[in-house]
Amino acid sequence: MKLHTISTAYAVYEHIGELPVDIQELMKAAVKIKESAYAPYSNFKVGAALLLADGSIAVGNNQENAAYPSGLCAERVAIFHASAKDPSMEILTIAIVASSELNTVSKPVGPCGACRQVLSEYEVKQEKEIEIYFMGEIGDIIRTNSVADLLPFGFDKSYL
Ligand code: THU
Repeated sequence: MKLHTISTAYAVYEHIGELPVDIQELMKAAVKIKESAYAPYSNFKVGAALLLADGSIAVGNNQENAAYPSGLCAERVAIFHASAKDPSMEILTIAIVASSELNTVSKPVGPCGACRQVLSEYEVKQEKEIEIYFMGEIGDIIRTNSVADLLPFGFDKSYL
């Protein structure tokens, strides 16, 4: 038996002004779309903004449902909408932000497991890493250079 270790590199920014200028714009787009999230059950609003290879920005927010599992996260709303519009689109970066009406979200909110899996699908499809930035209402912003940093031993088409 051999014991192996997986380590994850990530960057921490203390405030939006520290981000590259184009990413500041992307994060602002995520903050804006977050406000129109449909989250009457959790009161937890999430916004996601994608920077696409053609320079355009695609956005999404969480869409909840009285039948809870029928809802969808902001990240997947943004990705599926962008891919539906242009199946050949390439995602360079995703910016994610969340806030709650119940308390102040002071930790960076990373994508849930299902969204990591979907991000992984598109990263494999486009053969190009997707940068991920995520934040709460206040506090640090985290960046990883690839979804692989958040999803070790991920399942992809190479297993099929
Ligand atoms: N949510 C997202 O939109 N993205 C995530 O990565 C985590 C969770 C949403 C789903 C649900 O509408 C609410 O946040 C509370 O879980």
